Amino acid sequence: MEIGMLHSHVLVVTLFLLFLLFKTILLLANKKDLLAKVRKYKMVDPILGVLMLATGGYLLSLYGSAAPTYLWVKLVLVLIIIPIGIVAFKKENKAMAVIAVLLTFYIYGVSEVGSLTFSKDETAVVSDDSPAKNAAEVNIEGSTAELLKNGKEVYLAECKKCHGEDGKKGLFKAPDLTQSKLNLSERVAWIKKGKGVMPAYENELTETEIEAVALYLDELK
Ligand code: HEC
Repeated sequence: MEIGMLHSHVLVVTLFLLFLLFKTILLLANKKDLLAKVRKYKMVDPILGVLMLATGGYLLSLYGSAAPTYLWVKLVLVLIIIPIGIVAFKKENKAMAVIAVLLTFYIYGVSEVGSLTFSKDETAVVSDDSPAKNAAEVNIEGSTAELLKNGKEVYLAECKKCHGEDGKKGLFKAPDLTQSKLNLSERVAWIKKGKGVMPAYENELTETEIEAVALYLDELK
C-alpha cells in the first residue's frame, strides 16, 4: 500500500512536471494557438495538483513526527508553484512559467537526494561509507530482559511504521530486518545516523533506548 502510494506520487509529480514543461516550451516558442488548445484541458493541472498533494500528504503522515525538513519545504514549494503556474499561463508570463518549471525541477531533485542543498551528508550517509563503519564498542548496561522490553516499546513506537511489527514490512524499500547481517554495534551506529528515508535517531532517542532497540532487532530473527 505505502510503496504503491510512493509510486503513484512519483508518477503524478512526473506528469505534472511534463505538462508544465510542455506548456512552458510552447509559451517560450510563442506557439500561442497550440498553447490555447492545450490550455483547454483546464482540469489537468488542478487534478494533478490535488493528487500530488493528497498522495504526498499521505506519505508525509506516515513519517509522523520524524518527517525530515526537506519534505515540509517541498510541501510549501508545491503550494507556491501551483498558483504561480496558473497565473503564468493566464497572463502568458514567460518568466513566471520558467520559475514554476525550475522550482518543480528543484523539488524533484530534492526528493531524489533527500537534501535541500543536494549534499548527501545532510540527511543521508554516503552509501559506500556505511554508518556501521563508524561504530564504536557497545557496552550495554542493565538486565537483558529489561532492555528487550524497552527495546520492543521503542521499536513499536518508532520503527514499526516502516519496518513492520515483524521487521519485514519494507516501507520505502526498507530492508527486511530479519535478514540483516549487521552486528549490534553496527546497528547502533545505523540507528543513530539514519540513511536515506530512514531517520537519524541520535537526537530523538537516548543512548540506552538506541542500544535497547538495536538489541531487540535480534528478537525479530
Ligand atoms: C521512515 C521509515 C523508517 C523508519 C521510521 C525506520 N527505518 Fe530503518 N530503514 C528504513 C530504510 C528505508 C532503510 C534502508 C536505508 C538504505 O539502505 O538506504 C532502513 C534500514 C535500517 C537498518 C539497516 C538494515 C540492514 O541490514 O541494512 C536497520 C538496522 C534499521 N533500519 C533499523 C531501524 C530501527 C531500529 C528503527 C526505529 C528506531 C528504524 N529503522 C526506523 C526506513 C525506516
